[in-house]
Order: sequence, then C-alpha cells, then structure tokens
Amino acid sequence: MSQHQEKARIIRFEQLSGLNVRITLEAPLIAGSAEAGQFVMIRTGSGQDPLLRRPFSLHQTSSGGQIQIYFKNVGRGTDIMAHAKVGEMLDVFGPLGRGFSIADDKPACLVGGGLGIAPMLFLAKIISSLGRDHSQDLIILGGRTREDVEPLVDDFKQFGLALHCATDDGTYGIKGYVTDILRSEQLAENTQIYGCGPDNMLEVLHQFSSSRHLSCQVSVESVMACGMGACLGCNVDSSDGDYLHVCIDGPVFDTGDLAWNS
Ligand SMILES: Cc1cc2nc3c(=O)[nH]c(=O)nc-3n(C[C@H](O)[C@H](O)[C@H](O)COP(=O)(O)OP(=O)(O)OC[C@H]3O[C@@H](n4cnc5c(N)ncnc54)[C@H](O)[C@@H]3O)c2cc1C
Ligand code: FES
Repeated sequence: MSQHQEKARIIRFEQLSGLNVRITLEAPLIAGSAEAGQFVMIRTGSGQDPLLRRPFSLHQTSSGGQIQIYFKNVGRGTDIMAHAKVGEMLDVFGPLGRGFSIADDKPACLVGGGLGIAPMLFLAKIISSLGRDHSQDLIILGGRTREDVEPLVDDFKQFGLALHCATDDGTYGIKGYVTDILRSEQLAENTQIYGCGPDNMLEVLHQFSSSRHLSCQVSVESVMACGMGACLGCNVDSSDGDYLHVCIDGPVFDTGDLAWNS
C-alpha cells in the first residue's frame, strides 16, 4: 500500500459547531489510494510547534482528489488547524494503517459516537455503493448534544441508508446512547458491525456483538508519535496477551483481537 506526503491546500473550511471543524484539502494522491478507516498524519504548524504530526481519520474522499478531515479543537495542534484559512497549505502524510475490511455480502451496522463519527461518512459511502440490497443496513450516530450530530446528518442521508441518532441530553434523536439504539434494533443474524467512538462505547459494542455472535470491527485511537510503527507509542493490549500497534496493525481491529477491561 503506498503512502504519500502532500502539501495540501485547504479549499473549504466549515465550523460545524462550537469546537468541531471540517476542512477539505486538495490531496489527490492520498484521496486516490485511501480506504475507509485509514488515517493521515498532519503537520499542523509550519515550524516545530507542535513538533509531531497529529493523526486524523479520513472523513471523506472524492474522485476529484479531495480529502476531508473532521476534528475537534482540543489542544495545540487542532487549535492551529481550527484557525487555518482557505488557501493555506497543510503537510499531510498518508493514507496510513488498516481500514475497515468490508463484508460485501453482510448487512452493515455503522455506529459512530462523538468524533468517532468522522470515519463513518467514508465508510457509509463505500457501503452504499455496494451492488446489493441495502434494506437491512443501518447507521447510528450519537453525541453529547445536538451540535455533535445534527450538522453531519444531511451528509449521511445522501447515501439513502437507514439512519438513527441519539444524544446524551436528548436534544437530537433519542435521549440516550448509540448503544441503546443498537440494542433496540432487530439486526439480521449475520450483520457486520463497524464502530468508532469513545473506548467505553467500543467496549459495549464488543460485549453486544460477542453476546449475539456478530462480527464487529472498531477503529481505535491512541496517542501517536510516528504513525508508522517505529516509536511504539501507540500500543494497545491484544486478546492473546501481546500488544498491537494502532498505527500499523489498526486503527481498525476486530474486537475479538483486542483485550477489554471486562
Ligand atoms: C488513528 C486516529 C484517528 C483520529 N481521528 C481523529 C478525527 O478524525 N478527529 C479528531 O478530532 N480527532 C481524531 N483523533 C485524535 C486526534 O489525533 C487528537 O485529538 C489530536 O492529536 C490532538 O492534538 P492537539 O495537538 O490538538 O492536542 P494535544 O495538545 O496534543 O492534546 C490535547 C488533549 O487531547 C488529548 N489527546 C491527544 N491525542 C489524543 C487522542 N489520540 N485521543 C484522545 N485524546 C487525545 C491529550 O491527552 C490532551 O488532553 C485521532 C487519533 C487517532 C490515533
Ligand atoms: S505511532 Fe509510532 S509505532 Fe505507532
């Protein structure tokens, strides 16, 4: 799989809500080779501050050579990106890691919580383009409050898959968690679950899928320095007592391959 380093021009900047931003970049080499669930490492500043690139899921790619990143302003690097202007260039490296392994013939249930919604848009596009019946496919999106979910809903609706939403405070969709919706759904017995979100959400997805003998893939986050398997900074425990690199073995894993707290 080939990786590319591109000086990518910002061609669109969207302040989707208070701290949540989406930027569209011209990065034709990355866009042309990316798979859903893969990520890029972005040098957010122009000098040595911050020193390390930051990892971001590929939110969407287009055949016109564009990639989108959807992120929350949580610190130094994301704050710089959150104040970038259209026309500025970002140094982007990718695509990196293993993305989702698409089970072409199985109904798909996509579950995105909070910033974990980011990779689900790309995945929804791929799933919706499969030449099969989509009546049993399902997307579940959730966040703390309306502004975490509503700004992205139309982008998901364009794919025509069933869509359900939840917010912790009930300001959009049902009041509750994405996993509450999941439990209330009549899923086909061979449904493939794909998830991304906070660790506790991923753990519930693992428990749910195990109890129903469903296959579940989740995209995992960890702190990353190199993004290429060299620094050992991104290790997570595996189910066989060893460890895995999120950057090269993941970020997408079968939940059965990971060690969980309970
Ligand atoms: C594979 C992968 C994909 C990611 N995709 C996205 C995405 O699509 N959108 C998005 O908003 N974020 C995503 N992240 C998280 C993102 O990389 C961090 O939010 C970012 O690196 C923070 O950089 P910063 O310089 O702004 O914050 P820093 O100043 O470095 O840190 C600010 C705070 O954020 C915390 N933090 C840093 N890195 C992470 C992390 N990986 N997970 C959770 N907390 C972190 C720090 O502990 C600290 O509390 C992803 C992370 C990984 C590993
Ligand atoms: S980030 Fe360096 S080994 Fe994974």
